Amino acid sequence: MKFKSGEIKLPNPKLKSKISLEEAITKRKSLRAYTKSPLSLKEVSQLLFAGQGLLGGDRRTIPSAGAFYPIEIYLSAARITDLPQGLYQHLPDGHKLKKITSANRTAKLAAAAFGQIWVKNAPAVLIICGDFEKTVKKYQDKGEDFVTMEAGHAAQNISLQAAALNLGTLCVGGFNEKEAKSALNIEKNKKVFYLMPVGKTFKNQDEKEAEVLNDFYQILEKEFLKDL
Ligand SMILES: Cc1cc2nc3c(=O)[nH]c(=O)nc-3n(C[C@H](O)[C@H](O)[C@H](O)COP(=O)(O)O)c2cc1C
Repeated sequence: MKFKSGEIKLPNPKLKSKISLEEAITKRKSLRAYTKSPLSLKEVSQLLFAGQGLLGGDRRTIPSAGAFYPIEIYLSAARITDLPQGLYQHLPDGHKLKKITSANRTAKLAAAAFGQIWVKNAPAVLIICGDFEKTVKKYQDKGEDFVTMEAGHAAQNISLQAAALNLGTLCVGGFNEKEAKSALNIEKNKKVFYLMPVGKTFKNQDEKEAEVLNDFYQILEKEFLKDL
């Protein structure tokens, strides 16, 4: 890990794996229960590369209308080996992380997501954001849709990559955007599309999934009953 003016070079991503695309596609499912183990910086690097990696020239791992690449990925790091806690922005050029703050923003993100405990418990949360400006200027009333579609491309690549790495993740779209933006300190004109908590899975994952959902329903019920 190299620190230079608040930037951290990520490990080079792998370009081959033993799992087939077909296996990753059929393995992908929303997973909400994660062990307490940290993620490695290599795993995080691979996920960010899947979402927004540069492939040489101007090409990236996802398509982009007009090749404006409006998608930006942030990382809320709570437990990542070799990476201090904090909020980072992924810089595709050079495959680096730029530190935004050393404060751990994961709890704030979970609160913005109405207390979804899988966000709170995750060792890492990837946040898929978009900057509408250039795409809207060029494509006008189609521009916002295009950026939204591109967020989906990034999220799907990350989901499949997580499945291939045997990690759990899901796309969380249910959150208060104003609160999420405040947790991320991002400009008002940017959009937050998805929070993607990521963590290691259990051997008895199905059982743990049932437990975490049950815990969450109990919290919801308590919150709901409180106001009745
Ligand atoms: C746009 C979108 C928003 C979603 N938001 C949430 C969410 O806020 N919380 C959550 O637990 N799951 C969320 N999900 C995950 C869905 O619940 C999940 O994809 C669906 O139940 C199908 O299950 P699968 O992903 O395992 O195939 C979202 C999925 C999408 C596509």
